[in-house]
Amino acid sequence: MKYYLTTPIYYVNAAPHIGHAYTTIVADLLKRFKRMEGYEPVLTTGSDEHGVNVERSAQRAGKTPKEFTDAIAAEFERQWQMLGLQIDHFQRTTNPQHARVVQDLFERCRKNGYVYKGSYTGQYCIFDNLYVNDAKPGDPCPDCGRPTETITEENFFFKLSAFQEKLLALYESNPGFLQPETRRNEVISFVKAGLKDLSITRTNIKWGIPVEGESPHVFYVWFDALATYMSAVEGEGQWPADLHLIGKEIVRFHAVYWPAFLMAAGLELPKQIFAHGWLLFENDKMSKSRGNIVRAEPIKEVMGADALRYFLLREVVFGQDGSFSYDALVGRYNSDLANGLGNLASRTLTMIKQYRGGLIPAGPSRFDSEPTIQKVREAFDAFEFSKGLESIWSLIGAVDKYIVTRAPWKQAKDAPPEQLDETLYTAADALRIVTALVSPVLPQSADKIWAQLGMTDPLSSVRFETLKWGELRPGQAIGEIAAVFPRIEAKDAIAKMRALEEKVTAEQQLLMGKKAEEAAAEGPAKIPIDDFLKVDLRVGLVLTAEPVKGSTKLMQMTVDIGEPAPRTIVAGIAEAYTAADLVNRKVVIVANLQPRKLKGIESNGMIVAASVNDGKPVLAGFHEDIPVGARLK
Ligand code: MSP
Repeated sequence: MKYYLTTPIYYVNAAPHIGHAYTTIVADLLKRFKRMEGYEPVLTTGSDEHGVNVERSAQRAGKTPKEFTDAIAAEFERQWQMLGLQIDHFQRTTNPQHARVVQDLFERCRKNGYVYKGSYTGQYCIFDNLYVNDAKPGDPCPDCGRPTETITEENFFFKLSAFQEKLLALYESNPGFLQPETRRNEVISFVKAGLKDLSITRTNIKWGIPVEGESPHVFYVWFDALATYMSAVEGEGQWPADLHLIGKEIVRFHAVYWPAFLMAAGLELPKQIFAHGWLLFENDKMSKSRGNIVRAEPIKEVMGADALRYFLLREVVFGQDGSFSYDALVGRYNSDLANGLGNLASRTLTMIKQYRGGLIPAGPSRFDSEPTIQKVREAFDAFEFSKGLESIWSLIGAVDKYIVTRAPWKQAKDAPPEQLDETLYTAADALRIVTALVSPVLPQSADKIWAQLGMTDPLSSVRFETLKWGELRPGQAIGEIAAVFPRIEAKDAIAKMRALEEKVTAEQQLLMGKKAEEAAAEGPAKIPIDDFLKVDLRVGLVLTAEPVKGSTKLMQMTVDIGEPAPRTIVAGIAEAYTAADLVNRKVVIVANLQPRKLKGIESNGMIVAASVNDGKPVLAGFHEDIPVGARLK
């Protein structure tokens, strides 16, 4: 039976951090769990590579969008390999095969009458590539807070308004479609409040999938991105997806727009969407713009990928926000993994080695693990991972208690051998069950314990259907014993992780195209207001201008900045402006720079201009009239 699940495809304008890893790890866990349930699961993830943000990040990095996205997409893929995640398809939106699927989705919607051409006027945030509905000119972008700009353009529109009733019927008839409940309620209110048609193409962006025969239209990033869920498995008979796993901030796109696009196209809808909460660090959502990021790699290096997985799944209630901290990570590891599971494994195996020459004795087992197996299946099926793990750990606790009560070290001395056999068999059999149950969450460690138990069938072949307590084979020779979760000294480990974190962050900044010095300076680069006020910025009027002989770039000007005599200023703007362009123009001058000689001419100030990645400078100016000499601050 098929089970197709997806993670969001991640934007490539940030390097991967544990927020991205969180979703992808849970997807990997679910894949492993579904396999144990007897499905043949397929997991896809990928990279969202189009749009202004990416174009801009590439420019900043001095790379073409293609070069840039190749590098970051490869970094995401490397992360998932490093963490040992079982990804079947990594789909990139720049894959030409994907572009065909997007075009096809569009054609289907158009053919069915759900697409029309219209004019869009509205507020737009160029940083987030976000069209901000219901905003007035100058209103801030809800995402980044920067002022929005008013734009008017011809777009293709999707008749989202036609889907209000159909969507409400979908949520109504299929309560499991969107989980958890809070998200479902939010979406229902949103849809009930009325749906406006949605612009699904853009004409002011070059870095996107072109709409065939409709140049300069390119597809809106979300119309493009959502279609990866289909393009990733094109021709494989996997669609519809059984589960889209997402973070809570992108619910609307998945639970409103996406089903509407699919209904319009006459395609099947995904079966289920689950939106989890945010991973917070230092009480805030971890994100690049907030600068409070933790990476997975240092944690994996110091504590292992399973330690991170366990922490994320045990400590955070899936669906709610949860906090990450290094202290809590190490604390969980030591109390639950080193002292809990690790200790049960090593004491059980060591006694079998010591008292029974490393051979599993004959049973029976006194421990019915069936109720735990059922509880774990139900909890994982309901996305209640921490609850499932709690059940497993209660079993571990119960086995520990059983061992203490039976006191095998005493039994070895003075009890009939069957009694010790029974104790050891019971503990080992329960360890086998526990190991199988934790394997979706702790795949690497579970494999190790499995091998130490001397199991010969691979753990990946275990199915719940046939996982029964009391079936450990007597006479089986255990493997070599080694601590799976050695205790970790918190202070040391945290210092190591923090040091590695700095290294990885620097590496990733280089990958994002920042020069080393720039990256190093990034943190302390914020300046107090007093520093800014030291800069004397003035409105100036260009009186004369002439190109400097022997230079293609330099322009010599005299500029009135409200002082008794005009200043001589030399600036590298001759390729962008002629002398005639400049004379009589109001400009912004940095008036208190130390004088500097350029081609033998002393320049007494600097003219302020924007420059885009080696492009031509663009002079700063004013829309309103403003007196010469006015100070900017
Ligand atoms: N590209 C879109 C998604 C398109 S899906 C068709 C996008 N990308 S993203 O890079 O911003 O990734 C968002 C997803 O990454 C979240 O929905 C979530 O799954 C994961 N997370 C990123 N930061 C996270 C946290 N701090 N906490 C939890 N999950 C986080 O949106």
